[in-house]
Amino acid sequence: MSRIVVSGASGDLGRRVTDLLLRADPNRELTLVSRTPDKLAHHTGPGILLREGDHRKLELLEAAYQGGDVLFLISGLNLGRRVEEHRNVIAAAQKAGIRHIVYTSVGGVQRRNPALSAIDHYQSELDLRVSGLEYTFLRNALYAEIVSNILVAPGADTGRMEQATGDGYLAPVSKANVARSAAACLLDPEAHAGAVYEITGPELLNFERIAAIGTEVYGRPIEYVPITAEERLAFYDSIGIPRTYDPDMPPSPDGHMWASDELVTAEIAIAKGYQAIQSRHVEQITGHEPEPLRTVMERAKSMRYDKIDAAVS
Ligand SMILES: NC(=O)c1ccc[n+]([C@@H]2O[C@H](COP(=O)([O-])OP(=O)(O)OC[C@H]3O[C@@H](n4cnc5c(N)ncnc54)[C@H](OP(=O)(O)O)[C@@H]3O)[C@@H](O)[C@H]2O)c1
Repeated sequence: MSRIVVSGASGDLGRRVTDLLLRADPNRELTLVSRTPDKLAHHTGPGILLREGDHRKLELLEAAYQGGDVLFLISGLNLGRRVEEHRNVIAAAQKAGIRHIVYTSVGGVQRRNPALSAIDHYQSELDLRVSGLEYTFLRNALYAEIVSNILVAPGADTGRMEQATGDGYLAPVSKANVARSAAACLLDPEAHAGAVYEITGPELLNFERIAAIGTEVYGRPIEYVPITAEERLAFYDSIGIPRTYDPDMPPSPDGHMWASDELVTAEIAIAKGYQAIQSRHVEQITGHEPEPLRTVMERAKSMRYDKIDAAVS
């Protein structure tokens, strides 16, 4: 049996994937890595190791990954600076004898994609491709939970969804489907070596259609109103969202740490068509059709964004 290392195990995606791996085999050999491994102390399975790891500290990572075969690298949140952090992860993995990295990327990665997050992922994908390690990329579409709770829910209150997404299309994917896809790749890495998966939901939607689904689910009229990137940035300024990500900044009221330059450039990328991708990869990998946005919205509508995972198995 090969030992799976989960880097970022204490976060939402890491928790979901850890649970799936242990559900498949409670005795699984698993190394769970966090900057504060105490957060993971509730995991007491016979094959579980808890390790301290910080993507900014190469030596710690090398020690944390020792004995591992496959690494789940949940990309960092430190926009702009995470390319260097991922290079530390790759170097530590090479030194520790890891053979394969499953990496969470984003849909529409290519050189001209203007989303700040895609620019980082483009470089990290390149770094992984030349690392000599086996790799699998999970290019995740925008989370359906973000569409539901961060974009549509406020629109249900005000009646308007004002965004810089133009007439762009996307295929939002649920976090549960992302987690199941990742777990399947980690459990059988050889079968997914070299694969670049577009992890999407089952339907391509523009925000006019998403507003119509929101209107039905919330039972209140929601109109989609395209606005410019400058107007969107000014809105985020007005509600106190910082422009640039800072790892030490306090979380937003929804429990997440948002920066407006990342959010607005992601909207521009949608408007320009970079997220207009729908694949059947979730079904191919997991054997199950991904959930439609409406299902996720029904489930998540009364929950705070960072609490949604608690209700989903
Ligand atoms: N597709 C989309 O719509 C979308 C939207 C948002 C985010 N994402 C992506 O989803 C992933 C994050 O998912 P999540 O929901 O699990 O995030 P999360 O709940 O905020 O968890 C972040 C994780 O990263 C770890 N971490 C943070 N800084 C670290 C560092 N310097 N070194 C090592 N670990 C560090 C944290 O661990 P400790 O604090 O315990 O160390 C935690 O486990 C990222 O790849 C992000 O880019 C995708």
